[in-house]
Amino acid sequence: MAKVLKSYVCGSCGAAYRKWQGKCDECNEWNTIEEEKAAVSGAPKGLSGKKGSHVNLVSLDEPIEEAPRLLTGISELDRALGGGLVPGSAILIGGDPGIGKSTLLLQAMGELANKGEDCIYISGEEATAQVQMRANRLGLKGAPLKLGCETSLRDILTTLDEGKPPKVVVIDSIQTLFADHVESAPGTVSQVRVCAHELISFAKRRGTVVLIVGHVTKDGQIAGPRVLEHMVDTVLYFEGDRGHQFRILRAVKNRFGGTDEIGVFEMTGGGLNVVTNPSALFLADHNSREPGSAVFAGIEGSRPVLVEIQALVARSSAANPRRAVVGWDSGRLAMVLAVLDARAGLGLAGCDVYLNVAGGLKVTEPAADAAVAAALISSLSQVALPEETVVFGEIALSGDIRAVSQTEARLKESAKLGFSRAMLPSSKKADADAIQQQGMARVGDLVAHFFPEGIE
Ligand code: TYD
Ligand code: MG
Repeated sequence: MAKVLKSYVCGSCGAAYRKWQGKCDECNEWNTIEEEKAAVSGAPKGLSGKKGSHVNLVSLDEPIEEAPRLLTGISELDRALGGGLVPGSAILIGGDPGIGKSTLLLQAMGELANKGEDCIYISGEEATAQVQMRANRLGLKGAPLKLGCETSLRDILTTLDEGKPPKVVVIDSIQTLFADHVESAPGTVSQVRVCAHELISFAKRRGTVVLIVGHVTKDGQIAGPRVLEHMVDTVLYFEGDRGHQFRILRAVKNRFGGTDEIGVFEMTGGGLNVVTNPSALFLADHNSREPGSAVFAGIEGSRPVLVEIQALVARSSAANPRRAVVGWDSGRLAMVLAVLDARAGLGLAGCDVYLNVAGGLKVTEPAADAAVAAALISSLSQVALPEETVVFGEIALSGDIRAVSQTEARLKESAKLGFSRAMLPSSKKADADAIQQQGMARVGDLVAHFFPEGIE
């Protein structure tokens, strides 16, 4: 007899538990764990008895049947995908609600349909008229795109299986789909997993690209895209601040290309526009005469990106001074502060510290350490960095400033954007005539720049 076992699953990351608990140990989210019913038929039977069919084994040098990649025509999307869509692949696009996932995919499908590709857009969230109105606003009126508004997985798969397989299918969003053979409500971990599994098998079977939209959810009411990350071929996250017009599409997993590649977009009244030169955009309002600001010459994926790092350091009388960070890792900030205190005697322990990466970009490179330190010391000393200066370098716990990769590319991009000086690790100076290089061996060299008379 079928026995129903209770198990508990985190809706954010998919971790499974035997008992309910308030906080997920895997992803540290609160209230995301919910009950999941799994039907288990008695004891597991083992595979003995019935014989399976033969699996076709091939050698590595057998000729590859590779269909060419499909370019969407939206250059930044193709870049984040590692050079276009791979036929038969399943791609997950995650992001906060309202960030622009539907807009991006509708634009991409419109472009592809205009090029004569067979594309289907299934929306489970909006009515046909709403999608049509949005398409009109995006300048896609008359694009030969097939549109469907449906949430039943069975009906969607039946439609997709009719006739010749389409080239690309968009499912917007996975959390609205409903498989009628699964008991739980749409958006639960079991529903999301089953629906995604069926769609991925469809992609592999028919060679169609399936793009799945997944909302990131904070409150755990519906399952988030992390539950699906391991099932799909490519995972892209669409990030950005709703207050800013910049949007960043970041590849976090890609079976057909590099990760860490980013695509940069700008949200305008007429949809998303690609930004081919992100540095110019991130530095648009940069004022180099203000203390507390430093320009970091970073590398995102395969290209250099310049961003402004802003810091505010203020003396505090509180026992636990405030530390607030936007766009950078708070643990890393604590480390840089500790190194500046211990190795250069700056006395930041009694200060409130605020750090912000301008433009809504999230910086993950350790090479930003030196730029963060420069912004902090500049704010503390109220001395601005020299004009037209970029900073980069990794700070070690010993206080050494370590070399980072791709020095030439960073300097070249800086020179291109009109910067004439670079403060960089002294061990890794490069041949670059256009830019004056000032090497730093230890954090003390950086501090000496702002406190030439020493710290009192
Ligand atoms: P949407 O693509 O619906 O977000 P998601 O699918 O990720 O939930 O984007 C909605 C936001 O984008 C909405 O706040 C309005 C804005 N927007 C524009 O600014 N310009 C446009 O042309 C469109 C279509 C949307
Ligand atoms: Mg949407």
